[in-house]
Amino acid sequence: MKKANIIAIETSCDETSVAIFNSELEVLSSVVASQFKWHERFGGVVPEVAARAHMELLNKSILQSLHDAKMHISEINAVAVHNGPGLAGALLVGLSAAKMIALGLGVPLIAVNHVHSHIYACRMSANKDIFPCVGMVVSGGHSILFECKTAMDMKRLGGTIDDAAGEAFDKVAALLGLGFPGGPAVEKIALTGNSNAYQYPKSFFYEDRLDFSFSGLKTAVLYTIAPPGQPRLLDLDIELIKADIAASFQKAVVDVLVAKAIAALKKTGLKRLAVGGGVVANKSLREKLSVEINLAGGELYLPERNLCTDNAAMAALSVEAWRKGVFTSLDVDIKPTVF
Ligand code: KG4
Ligand code: ZN
Repeated sequence: MKKANIIAIETSCDETSVAIFNSELEVLSSVVASQFKWHERFGGVVPEVAARAHMELLNKSILQSLHDAKMHISEINAVAVHNGPGLAGALLVGLSAAKMIALGLGVPLIAVNHVHSHIYACRMSANKDIFPCVGMVVSGGHSILFECKTAMDMKRLGGTIDDAAGEAFDKVAALLGLGFPGGPAVEKIALTGNSNAYQYPKSFFYEDRLDFSFSGLKTAVLYTIAPPGQPRLLDLDIELIKADIAASFQKAVVDVLVAKAIAALKKTGLKRLAVGGGVVANKSLREKLSVEINLAGGELYLPERNLCTDNAAMAALSVEAWRKGVFTSLDVDIKPTVF
């Protein structure tokens, strides 16, 4: 059977991304246009600015993806899009463009869930079937555990009750004056720090529930810098302990994420663990997952680094729907809060 070509659009947050893959899961092009320069001066992602930046970057990214894949748009057989969760205005830009292309070409639209795609990124990197598995997504917006019976059947087991893991990295980076985005900056400085210097809280660590909470950890870091009822540390003092704070904070996050992922394997009786999302770019998390999964006798699937943070190639999850002939109506709406 002739391979079908699918163009996919990701605009859920601050990366404008377009990819082309085929029904054999071969990625033919993948464009990720960063909006860093739009958001940097605000110290975080500004939703309105993200939507406007997607408007500016999306057409160029679509043309670039066709160019890179050496393909004419008439060779596209379906359009995939992440229609949620994410920032409403940002999602609207991508979904509107996807609908227009599908309508113009007279090809099916396939809307997929951005968080589920983060798990599917592991399937893409493994280059073999990984289902059934426990899926964990650790990104800037989400920290969720799923029981994934198939790629299209993911049941939520638990998740964060407040901040997401990536959000905690970003907020701690801001407290330490490390800039934005925070995750890579915290990871870098943590390399030179002592991870046992501070004993930060690990919420629910000893409890039999598959949930996370990171806001108390963030407050604990704040109290190291500005102890309640005492003067805030001087800039010079913070400089001296920054690496230790970063390393201790990172350890607290990693310990909790790994413990809950292993607990989810035990609870479901599954052997395979797939972890996706921006935070899994973190080397210390990857290493600890690998050690603990070996001890637990399981199998670990992680995305290659370029598939960890937001991208459209992971929307190859849509191929599963394509194979089953499951398409999306053109009147589909964005789903900013669904997971
Ligand atoms: O998956 P993603 O690109 O966007 C969302 O769907 O949210 O994840 C972005 C998040 C940010 O919070 C960023 O700080 C975090 O992933 N991140 C990291 C690392 N690289 C990105 N966190 C820790 N260590 C990293 N190396
Ligand atoms: Zn994401």
